[in-house]
Amino acid sequence: MKNMPQRHVSKVYLFIPDIVVLALILFKAFVLVSGIEISKNVKQDMFFEIVEPESLRYTFKVRPAQDFGVHFNKTLQNVGLVISEPHHGCSAPINKLELKSNVILVERGGCSFLTKCIQGEHVGALAIIVADSDIKNDEQYIEMIDDNTQRNCSIPAMFLLGKDGYMIRQRLEAHGLSRAIINIPVNVTMVPLHQQKQPPWLIW
Ligand SMILES: *[C@@H]1O[C@H](CO)[C@@H](O)[C@H](O)[C@H]1NC(C)=O
Ligand SMILES: *[C@@H]1O[C@H](CO)[C@@H](O)[C@H](O)[C@H]1NC(C)=O
Ligand SMILES: *[C@@H]1O[C@H](CO)[C@@H](O)[C@H](O)[C@H]1NC(C)=O
Repeated sequence: MKNMPQRHVSKVYLFIPDIVVLALILFKAFVLVSGIEISKNVKQDMFFEIVEPESLRYTFKVRPAQDFGVHFNKTLQNVGLVISEPHHGCSAPINKLELKSNVILVERGGCSFLTKCIQGEHVGALAIIVADSDIKNDEQYIEMIDDNTQRNCSIPAMFLLGKDGYMIRQRLEAHGLSRAIINIPVNVTMVPLHQQKQPPWLIW
């Protein structure tokens, strides 16, 4: 009779740690698997928001270059998004001074993505956004890769839909502006979908 409850107690005692250990193993496996998934998808899409002008006050999705450039290490608040002259940004821009310490907006084409990024770096830009030259493109994101020249770029580089680039340029021009004011990158993870101010001309 004395042994019975003891066995019972020890069984219960063993049973609980088993479940805890199992849960820990499963949790570790989950973390490991999700960690692998994250590291495979090295650079995830990011977002920036235009603060001014008001007619462009939306949140835009951009895709970081896949194998050149660097990550943002902090959010840039209220910096200029300045259109490069010439638009393709393949040669030294003529509006160098305006681009310095701002984010540059260039257009795809004329040279490699990496060359554009290096040009941006040379004028002291904080980052570069390359809008697709297809101004009707409102869904296809390009993976920007390097050009096998063994060069790199020390500022963040991102791809923007052609439609977004076109609308930004067009509305800035309509206001006689050469720049927008932006925050980049912004974290929209916790923002409910209906509060994410997507540009009305596209659907994410
Ligand atoms: C460029 O530098 C970044 C950051 O150091 C690195 O992750 C990337 O692999 C480099 N790319 C090339 C093409 O060397
Ligand atoms: C952040 O990045 C800038 C260039 O993008 C670099 O100059 C600076 O040293 C970095 N800071 C940290 C803390 O890594
Ligand atoms: C965005 O915010 C969420 C929730 O606050 C956080 O878990 C996530 O790591 C953040 N992402 C970035 C890229 O900062």
